[in-house]
Amino acid sequence: MELNDTIADTFEDAGAVAALPSLQGDSGSRKVFLKTYGCQMNVYDSQRMADALASDGYATTDTIEDADLVLLNTCHIREKAAEKVYSELGRLRDLKAERAERGQEMLVGVAGCVAQAEGREIIRRSPAVDLVIGPQTYHRLPDVLRRVRGGAKIVETDYAIEDKFEHLPQPTRAEIKRRGVTAFLTVQEGCDKFCTFCVVPYTRGSEISRPVAQIVTEAERLAEAGVREVTLLGQNVNAWHGHGPDGKPWGLGRLLFRLAEIPGLSRLRYTTSHPRDMDDALIAAHRDLDSLMPYLHLPVQSGSDRILKAMNRRHKASDYLKLIERIRAARGDIAMSGDFIVGFPGETDADFEATMKLVREVGYAASYSFKYSPRPGTPGAEMDGHVDEAVKDERLQELQALLNRQQQDFNATMHGVVMDVLIEKPGRQAGQRIGRSPWLQPVILDEKAGEIGDIVKVRITRAGPGSLFAEPV
Ligand code: SAH
Ligand code: SF4
Ligand code: F3S
Repeated sequence: MELNDTIADTFEDAGAVAALPSLQGDSGSRKVFLKTYGCQMNVYDSQRMADALASDGYATTDTIEDADLVLLNTCHIREKAAEKVYSELGRLRDLKAERAERGQEMLVGVAGCVAQAEGREIIRRSPAVDLVIGPQTYHRLPDVLRRVRGGAKIVETDYAIEDKFEHLPQPTRAEIKRRGVTAFLTVQEGCDKFCTFCVVPYTRGSEISRPVAQIVTEAERLAEAGVREVTLLGQNVNAWHGHGPDGKPWGLGRLLFRLAEIPGLSRLRYTTSHPRDMDDALIAAHRDLDSLMPYLHLPVQSGSDRILKAMNRRHKASDYLKLIERIRAARGDIAMSGDFIVGFPGETDADFEATMKLVREVGYAASYSFKYSPRPGTPGAEMDGHVDEAVKDERLQELQALLNRQQQDFNATMHGVVMDVLIEKPGRQAGQRIGRSPWLQPVILDEKAGEIGDIVKVRITRAGPGSLFAEPV
């Protein structure tokens, strides 16, 4: 989805997004190594866990050998993602044993969606694990760790009644600065939609929306520390309907207008959206708000009405196409991205062809496509007509070839274009910086173009398949 490089990786099964780098102050004597798999919400959650642990004297480290605590923040979305955790736990068991021989303790924890889905089973399969903690109870992490250090094995997967966001400490100003000029902010969590392929309603629970005041306070804090771009997150972010200061529920469109008033916050994004929740106010925000970037991740999964129905997506392919027409009428230069699943049970060649047709009609600037992976406990796994792996492979290749071509074509249209770029970080080569276009493309610039955090006007001199090259104007 939405993508700085880290994020581009986040939805891949390949996906460990790597450790949260370096130190959160070295106040404490204990060190935690955090490894994050899965989506942006997990990236955000890992930061909030690091904040909670910092208040408990843990500094983060990117050297696993130094860690007193190794915490895996896991993803359950596809089988490969979930299995990755167990192979990692195998390695950690050996590391833990080596450390024990030297008389050192290393605790192992599993957080995230696998923790929520599998709970105690994780400790049964991997006895080296000391704690299992689900996404709704991260604010209890310091307390859980105290008990674990006392020798207990803890599985904490309740849906907490208290609001975890109220209880999670905020990062320090220095820590926000260290994390960079773009930030994630979770506004909505969980899902009530129950698409028949998906585990999220089970791993993240039912939909909750954070109140406006809480979100505004957090966004202001980020902006004060130098963050220029905030991406609002939710499994169904456009279903967000938070309690407003006027006592009424607000929708996402209205929230975006409010956040756009915060000084210094120049760019807003949100992800992931469901087509059913794109309301008029949100489309109007795309029309009227300069700081709302012209990029929308709007997964459709399939172009076949039969399959959409079996997936319980509750809209037709034509509804999606009409919606995109309305969005494009409001904001002509908006770039679309999407998620696709091939080989859902019962998918025929004709269904797959309908997906190809829809993709050709929309024209995507970016996309994520997957082979259907049956997930335990979801209705899809019980359906008849599972598709052969070889057929899934073939369809995925064909779809990805088309989507990749569309992405390259989209990037090629940028040649010669003058645009604003947010400079995000140093480049890989000396003298370079990496920025981000409004359409989320990485842009390589000379360091003379500006400082990190600047938004500069540039002309695109070369459009590569994955990134753009630019000179200041
Ligand atoms: N809330 C978002 C999607 C969250 S999951 C939405 O409604 O679109 C991210 C993506 O993973 C999904 O869009 C889907 O394309 C993919 N995905 C989810 N479950 C899957 C499964 N069982 N097999 C393959 N891909 C899956
Ligand atoms: Fe999963 Fe569907 Fe909810 Fe998205 S809307 S998180 S795909 S159940
Ligand atoms: Fe994975 Fe959980 Fe995100 S299953 S995609 S980490 S919500």
